[in-house]
Amino acid sequence: MYSNIFDTHAHYDDSRFDEDRNELLSSLREKGVSQIINCACDYKSCLSTLEITKNHCFTYAALGVHPHEAEDLTEDDFCRIIELFNNEKVVAVGEIGLDYHYDFSPREKQREVFERQLILANELNLPVIIHDREAHEDTMNLLKKYRPKGVVHCFSGSAEMAKEVLKLGMYIGIGGAVTFKNAKKPVEVVKEVPSEYLLLETDAPYMTPVPFRGQRCDSSHIAFTAQTIAQIKGIDTQQLIDICNENAHRLFMK
Ligand code: NI
Repeated sequence: MYSNIFDTHAHYDDSRFDEDRNELLSSLREKGVSQIINCACDYKSCLSTLEITKNHCFTYAALGVHPHEAEDLTEDDFCRIIELFNNEKVVAVGEIGLDYHYDFSPREKQREVFERQLILANELNLPVIIHDREAHEDTMNLLKKYRPKGVVHCFSGSAEMAKEVLKLGMYIGIGGAVTFKNAKKPVEVVKEVPSEYLLLETDAPYMTPVPFRGQRCDSSHIAFTAQTIAQIKGIDTQQLIDICNENAHRLFMK
């Protein structure tokens, strides 16, 4: 069993946790999980994220509007979200970004909402948690323009793009996808990126690592992701978990 696991990206406000949210979260510390950042995706989920952080002292909040929800964001909700940052459990603006795979919101609207939140993060001096799906070029252009601190979560770009992200001083989030059989790109990315720039994450309840792929994911499953990364890096799994925990502290817990 491992200890000191910092899950930098989870969604425990998701309805798939409605049945057992509090019991599950309470049980995770015994399974070696020491910190969790719960990422919101709209105003409502900002509220439920803060509720979770109130009930579970080892959980922290990232507040923001996901690109899927960009189209539905009202001015009132954006103002209400800004007010919520006045809470000591909030450690990041997230998850924010661009998703040109699903295109649930028009791309122009996605870019507008993303840009406003990049500006907000810099004003608040908070790191960002970035969602980038099939929108690498626009994402990189906006990151280069605003130069936020932060992480590109569930990194799906090439090793070349990872180098660009590192040049900006940002971190690379690696989740369950690295354990999948067809994981070619994530493995190359892990090889390329120094351990000091990697963050562990689940994206729970999604992206469950092998051998539990298909089931609901929770933060304890990070052990399998960490094992895979440690193997690629040729280091001990607990050592990798410890390094990633330090990285997360450096970025989020100042
Ligand atoms: Ni997510």
